Amino acid sequence: MRNMSVDLCGVKLKNPLIAASGTFGFGREYDELYDISAWGAIAVKGLTDEPRAGNPPRRIAETSSGILNSVGLQNPGVDAFIRDELPRLASRGATVIANVAGSTAESCAEAARKLSDSPVAMIELNISCPNVKQGGAQFGACPEDAARVTAAVRSVCSRPLMVKLSPNVTDIASIAQAVQDAGADAVSLINTVTGMAIEARTRRPALANITGGLSGPAIKPIALRMVWQTAGGVRVPVVGMGGITTGTDAAEFMIAGATAVMVGTANITDVMAGPRILRELEDFLDENGIEDAGELTGSLILD
Ligand code: FUM
Repeated sequence: MRNMSVDLCGVKLKNPLIAASGTFGFGREYDELYDISAWGAIAVKGLTDEPRAGNPPRRIAETSSGILNSVGLQNPGVDAFIRDELPRLASRGATVIANVAGSTAESCAEAARKLSDSPVAMIELNISCPNVKQGGAQFGACPEDAARVTAAVRSVCSRPLMVKLSPNVTDIASIAQAVQDAGADAVSLINTVTGMAIEARTRRPALANITGGLSGPAIKPIALRMVWQTAGGVRVPVVGMGGITTGTDAAEFMIAGATAVMVGTANITDVMAGPRILRELEDFLDENGIEDAGELTGSLILD
């Protein structure tokens, strides 16, 4: 029997597939369709210390091989999440990763502090949201700022801390090294690639915020390259994401160096993507005589 479980900085995941933050909400809708505890973990929608209404509509636009979003971190706030959403997720047996964001390092730290006292397995610090005016991708744009906010969260966070990185930078590996040195236990990448869409007939931007973050199959080659470059430059585990749509895609990210992978946009285009991709990854392992999913990590052959 193959072993699908992986160890992500001390958190045992039953398999390497994680539902990506922002594409799975708090799991309510999917909970009606399948056993959401089948995921290795669920990264919930980005949480801020105070509730946020997000950006004005229109916030989502479909593109030829991906989705452009500018949600603006709409969420009910950490306290409401802990009170209203987390007990249901915990009762399902889901391993929960809380994605945390904020306008300041202090507000990120306060949200992480509250979550550290809750039954979440891990914190994912979001320094890469491209759709907010303060914080977000600003924090992830240079090693110094990325390290500063990571250190602030680290100082109050008793859970394993993963930092989610932006692809909209010149050298993502240097940002990964900076957050590692500031105390991160893992890094996740890539968040969305900044883009825009225009409706030619009206000559107006498709999104009210004008720009948004592109996700989905269009960004997969960029993500794979960044995961490979980052995994080669850090000691901490890397969680890879960006356009994973099939089990073979997941295997490719692990071969590039990822310990686990996140599935995002595929949850929106196929509500059953989670169980399907898990089945496909299991089939890939069986067909290739691989007994342990972890054997894939960093197994890229260069000759
Ligand atoms: O706009 C948003 O809420 C997106 C968040 C993110 O990309 O992290």
